[in-house]
Amino acid sequence: LTRNEIIEILKSPVAQEGTSFSDTDNSLFTAATATARALFNSTVFQRGLIEFSSYCRKNCHYCGLRSSNTELLRYRLTHDEIMQAVDNAHALGMGTIVLQAGEDEDVNPHFVYTVVRAIKEKYNLAVTLSLGDHPDDVYRLWRDSGADRYLLKIETSDSDLYSLYRPGEHLYDRLNRIETLQRLGYETCSGIIIGLPGMTAETLTDDLLLLSSMGLDMIACGPFIPHPQTPLRHAEQGRLVESLRVTALLRLANPAANIPAISALDSLSIIKKNEGRVLALNAGANVIMPSITPDDVRSRYAIYPGKNDPACTGHAAVKQLQHQVQQAGFTLSSQAGSSMR
Ligand code: 5AD
Ligand code: SF4
Repeated sequence: LTRNEIIEILKSPVAQEGTSFSDTDNSLFTAATATARALFNSTVFQRGLIEFSSYCRKNCHYCGLRSSNTELLRYRLTHDEIMQAVDNAHALGMGTIVLQAGEDEDVNPHFVYTVVRAIKEKYNLAVTLSLGDHPDDVYRLWRDSGADRYLLKIETSDSDLYSLYRPGEHLYDRLNRIETLQRLGYETCSGIIIGLPGMTAETLTDDLLLLSSMGLDMIACGPFIPHPQTPLRHAEQGRLVESLRVTALLRLANPAANIPAISALDSLSIIKKNEGRVLALNAGANVIMPSITPDDVRSRYAIYPGKNDPACTGHAAVKQLQHQVQQAGFTLSSQAGSSMR
């Protein structure tokens, strides 16, 4: 597809705001799922997400963990608490552990090193780190610990929007970091938020083209969900159909990439429980990444509202998601699901 054809798809009329789609959208989603199935059969890889610290030194305008949010009760897990969560993730059939946190200045890089070593010694699991911006030597240390993958989103390809929503930061620094991660031999994942104020069909098209040119192993996109304790509290949420269109277009442009069904889809107001992630699997996604963060703190990892529902234990939430994914005709895999690239 040319840039103009992608823009046309992204601007095409929406059937109705909800979970039924136009014929054009349905054929786009079907083509994307067929592409995924040709490579992955109907396999869905499972990554257990352990959100081990909600402290963050950054102040991104869209995120509930931003340092200016003084209403958030912060937490940081110990080594043993993380390992307990790893045991749970393994028992639930996850083939990968994703260690995620805000940019917590009180987490020593050697702490992460030790945790990754401990996971690798105990289980044959892939380890992904999602810990934000760090110096090259820290990325190297973590790679030496045995970490397989790193997740660092560009969030948007529009450098003005990037600097607007991430004060004091520049997109080119982020892009350089991603190149460093690739050079260090990490399987590298990046991605975007869909529907931040100021984003247009043209922005999303450029996002798609940029992400598809970067040689990424995994690409993630999910809708923006406004958080009440951020400057974007009154902004509109991202649109479901836009997230699904971008997911499908990413699959068509990157057949072998791992593409997660992002949990933010399930926080959209028009979505019933877990329906959003199943819709994404039916639009070309092949990965789920449920939170395995301990129950006493998981609802405090409030990047956006609705993440890690406190009304449900993590265990029950994973079981329910797994059930729904299987009901939709997919086969859950406990393999690492490493990059096909
Ligand atoms: N809505 C959706 N996604 C968000 N993220 C942060 N804040 C929000 C929000 N309000 C995403 C960003 C970040 C990841 C950890 O969470 O893409 O990279
Ligand atoms: Fe911190 Fe990441 Fe949230 Fe920005 S998006 S405030 S870096 S946790």
